[in-house]
Amino acid sequence: MSQLDFSTTLGNAWFPTPIFTASGCASSGKELAQFFDLRDMGAIVTKSIMSKPRAGRATPRMAETPSGMLNSIGLQGPGIDAFLANDLAWLVEQKARIIVSIAGETAEEFASLARRLRGVAGISALEVNISCPNVENRGMVFACHLESAQNVIEGVRRTIGGDLPIIAKLSPDVTDIVSIARGVVDVGADGLALINTVLGMVINPITMRPQLGGRTGGLSGPAIRPIAVRAIFQVHEALPKVPILGMGGVSSGADAFELIMAGASGVSVGTASFGNPTAIVKIQNELRQILKDKGFTSLREAIGFAHRPESSVR
Ligand code: FUM
Repeated sequence: MSQLDFSTTLGNAWFPTPIFTASGCASSGKELAQFFDLRDMGAIVTKSIMSKPRAGRATPRMAETPSGMLNSIGLQGPGIDAFLANDLAWLVEQKARIIVSIAGETAEEFASLARRLRGVAGISALEVNISCPNVENRGMVFACHLESAQNVIEGVRRTIGGDLPIIAKLSPDVTDIVSIARGVVDVGADGLALINTVLGMVINPITMRPQLGGRTGGLSGPAIRPIAVRAIFQVHEALPKVPILGMGGVSSGADAFELIMAGASGVSVGTASFGNPTAIVKIQNELRQILKDKGFTSLREAIGFAHRPESSVR
């Protein structure tokens, strides 16, 4: 039986497997490292880090929904200094591949984070999170406005220099995600992370008030997978050469395969890891088997397969 080349690339960064953590769902990987060797997956995508330590939003911050979960964390984190000294240093020690996710309140904050990360060893790529839904000021969701999104990515590109791949994380809460995707690629993004959570709300029938302290939150889990598939398909159709890190409700190899057929070069797993900390290993094994069963000899051949004419169906 022929071997399967399971590797993938995002810009100039190479990964031995296409399964990654989703930013925010595994912090810096310490908890997951109790269950499997972090080197056995594509990369850890760290929780989006900001310049200063941040407490996040009021509690409660989580609410269950049918087939999904609403979170309202509000970018809680230790700030870039502690992140570099503790989290990144630990990940480098583990020899994990690392994608660092950054978030800011202004384009200048994003650029200053890029400055702090420039030249730091051990980072495969930068995820620029311009789409966190859990901010007090909804005007801060840069990815919902073309010019604001471009402003951030342009500044990060200028600051970080030419080598480190920049992956812009976009929101599905827009009318035309393709125009935002094209816009950020035009100013220097090498790849796109699709999709961040979908803005939602739960009202508690007993208290008759919003369940989350922050009122609104980001919906993740299986409920949003069709939205992710649609966004990835639309963007891959318009920009077939731009690598996509796909995410949204993936909990099985078949789910990951769906995002890959839509056009994703890699797949991040988030919510599924809360229920099963070894979900990434399971998804990776299942995906490998599906690709072999379908007769693929490389992951690359499967990327965007759903865009090909009917006659090529296996
Ligand atoms: O609330 C949060 O920290 C979520 C961030 C995100 O979805 O980007």
